[in-house]
Amino acid sequence: MFNKRTKIKMLLSSGKEGEQVTVMGWVRTFRNNQFIALNDGSTNHNLQVVAALGAFDEALLKRITTGASIRASGLLVASLGKGQSIELKAGSIEILGDSDAEKYPLQPKKHSLEFLREIAHLRFRTNTFGSVFRIRHSLAFAVHKFFHEKGFVYLHTPIITSSDAEGAGEMFRVTTLSPDAPPRNEDGSINFKEDFFGKSANLTVSGQLEGELGAMAFSEVYTFGPTFRAENSNTTRHLAEFWMIEPEMAFHDLEDNMLLAEEFIRYLIGFVMDNNREDLDFLAQRLAEEEKSLPQDKRSELGLIEKLEFVRNNEFQRLTYTEAIDILRESNHNKKKKFQYPVEGWGVDLQSEHERYLVEKHFKKPVILTNYPKEIKAFYMRQNDDGKTVAAMDILAPGIGEIVGGSQREERLDRLETRMREMHIPAEELSWYLDTRRFGTVPHAGFGLGFERMVQFVTGMTNIRDVIAFARTPKNCEF
Ligand code: 4AD
Ligand code: MG
Repeated sequence: MFNKRTKIKMLLSSGKEGEQVTVMGWVRTFRNNQFIALNDGSTNHNLQVVAALGAFDEALLKRITTGASIRASGLLVASLGKGQSIELKAGSIEILGDSDAEKYPLQPKKHSLEFLREIAHLRFRTNTFGSVFRIRHSLAFAVHKFFHEKGFVYLHTPIITSSDAEGAGEMFRVTTLSPDAPPRNEDGSINFKEDFFGKSANLTVSGQLEGELGAMAFSEVYTFGPTFRAENSNTTRHLAEFWMIEPEMAFHDLEDNMLLAEEFIRYLIGFVMDNNREDLDFLAQRLAEEEKSLPQDKRSELGLIEKLEFVRNNEFQRLTYTEAIDILRESNHNKKKKFQYPVEGWGVDLQSEHERYLVEKHFKKPVILTNYPKEIKAFYMRQNDDGKTVAAMDILAPGIGEIVGGSQREERLDRLETRMREMHIPAEELSWYLDTRRFGTVPHAGFGLGFERMVQFVTGMTNIRDVIAFARTPKNCEF
């Protein structure tokens, strides 16, 4: 057996002087031909491994370079060095993998996030990405814990589908047809009957429609998986491949939906605050440093920890789309023409600058916006009695904008069919979906939380490319 070792996080928290231990990891730095800062990814804190002068071959010492992997065994002793109470007095050191110091791209110095994106295969070995990805893991775990404890069933909805759940047409096609000479119909269009699935197929934009089918049997389900959008948005908040959590609940109306979404977000924040404090503190400090270089009015009013504490402990602001439009229209910001898209009439879709004005300038807390005009929302949302709006809700978060999108669903068959006709959505293709409204339909609701946006919110990372391992964005599919 190879892996008889203790993880560094464990050692630093509960290792005792006099214990004989084995550690493995990657060398961060090697000072004075004596002091190795070793990291194994369990924590940002390195273990100091001491190679006593004269105790090791020169040839071996030369191979202890930044990035090299080693196995070291020895005795834990009290450390005289600053910042650690314990260190390892090495009895043996073995090089597992050499790393050419001249060529290793991650020198022990500060690198820009942009540069690290180009070497995303190595950036996990930095403190920033170590913290971000341990927190991402923790959040994913907390998602399952939250729903499991409430009795929700985790439903794995398909990644390849033939439907466009959002009706927005932003799909990646999945095909095995030859791009050069696809089979054609008489009118020249491509004949997808010849394709792998016998029809045109795409990567899912959302598991919601299938989630609704599950909710009509299990009462409460959730999905948590990758979703894909071929929208050409090159922003700090859009990915072509992102992970989404979509709970779907029978016997829930819009109010129940909002309560659950808010409880969920506050739970996730609390979980990370209670379980990842060391990594959060590191990121909070990183963010504070970064913001020092910004002009005063661009800096956050609260530090990362204070922000999370605030959101964990305070209720979200609720208001309707109509109220939001009034606030925006009457704002000095709008009157002074500071919005790129001025707010004039009722019915327009909100731009992210408007959403951010509401949460960051006006309310200074997360906002749940409800009852949007039906024209700017998906076909499945429940129509309100006013004939103009639907029972939609979006949750907007400071620094992020939209983090959750959801709604009560239209459970009345005739209303749903009419809306689909108006929006030119062919009922034949969604007959399976409409069956839930034919056989035991119930009021139900659900929402989607963008997982990366949640990770951004918790870690304070400003670019979404820095909270997913290997980002897929327009014109970029490396690794
Ligand atoms: O608002 P959206 O499009 O809603 C749905 O897909 C519904 N089917 C959800 C539901 O009711 N079950 O997306 C939901 C969330 C957004 O609020 C946002 O956080 C995230 O998914 N999101 C993205 N995240 C990263 N990159 C993108 N391109 C995203 N598009 C949406
Ligand atoms: Mg949305």
